[in-house]
Amino acid sequence: MTRAAPMDPPRIGVRIAGTGRAVPSGQLTNVDLARLMQTSDEWIVQRTGIHTRRVCDRSKGESCLPLAKEALTKALADARMDARELDMIILATLTEEMPCPPTSCQLAAAVGAGPCGAYDLSGACSGFVFSLNTAWSMVRAGLHRTVAVVGADTLSSYMEYNDHGRATAILFGDAAAATIIRATDDTSKGIIAQAMHTNGARWADLYIPLTMKHFPAEDPPEQAMIGRLHMNGKSVFKFAVSTFPEVIEQTLGRAGLRAEEVDHYICHQSNARILEAARERFGLPAEKLYVNIDKYGNTVAASVPLCLDELREAGRVREGQRVMFVSFGAGLTWGTSLWQL
Ligand code: COA
Repeated sequence: MTRAAPMDPPRIGVRIAGTGRAVPSGQLTNVDLARLMQTSDEWIVQRTGIHTRRVCDRSKGESCLPLAKEALTKALADARMDARELDMIILATLTEEMPCPPTSCQLAAAVGAGPCGAYDLSGACSGFVFSLNTAWSMVRAGLHRTVAVVGADTLSSYMEYNDHGRATAILFGDAAAATIIRATDDTSKGIIAQAMHTNGARWADLYIPLTMKHFPAEDPPEQAMIGRLHMNGKSVFKFAVSTFPEVIEQTLGRAGLRAEEVDHYICHQSNARILEAARERFGLPAEKLYVNIDKYGNTVAASVPLCLDELREAGRVREGQRVMFVSFGAGLTWGTSLWQL
């Protein structure tokens, strides 16, 4: 792991001022999936902890942009601010509406923001955590006072709900969640330590080919897999089980904190067994590592902010606490963001 340079003492504090979430109307339970493919509720629950997931109903116009709009509108209301106060919108997604324009620009118009900056950040399941670290840097550097960080993904469009696609179709769900980051005079608030890593040599563990040339040497090119998510499930599982504790330890080391001094670990929801292994490794009580994968499946860039919004709504995550966001995903990528709220 690389060493991070020590941080200068902050002159500007950064706080999380509001959050919001949105899920599509459609629901696919394990029982529904068992009607579409050779699988069972028992198989899925045992291996992943997932019971159901939300999926977009395209006939109702549900997709990344409307979900992101609803989540950001709720986050703005929660922060009691007008969209015209936004200086920047970062939209973490790999399921943008189209390659051009950036969906974040359409999002800015949809929520009624002024001529703020807006861009998409493609970081797969680490997209939200990478965007959050980026937003914090902008505010702390004095470049911007208010940044919206939105994670929105609708991976159902890359799934096949039949036997051919059963290895991935059971895992993923659609959602969006937004967070408003603002400058504050209280310099005790903001990121204490963070980490962002990648291992591009492992890209073939998770990828979506768009042409026959995109297939790696180890996978035979297959026309039926164009536009579908490929996943080497076992390899990703092993990677996640070792990386989660490593990156948490690295971040605690950078912050000079012990595991129990962090109030909440808000982790990417990819598999309940991966989360449980990390919780046991640090001897954390269940209430410190939130799990909602049972209701939503893996919602990619939306997964971490979806947890944050539910925890804030329940009054479990509050001002004054220390919270570590943890993610990993395609790339391969992995990262953290440890906050003093
Ligand atoms: N229902 C029933 N059986 C299934 C199935 C399904 N949906 N999908 C695969 N199987 C079968 C396989 O064909 C295989 O059968 P075989 O032994 O006859 O060949 C068997 O179940 C075991 O498959 P395997 O892939 O080895 O299962 P696993 O125990 O590794 O569990 C995952 C699969 C996907 C749940 C697990 O590997 C995992 O969670 N990986 C991490 C994925 C992840 O986190 N991805 C996102 C990263 S951000």
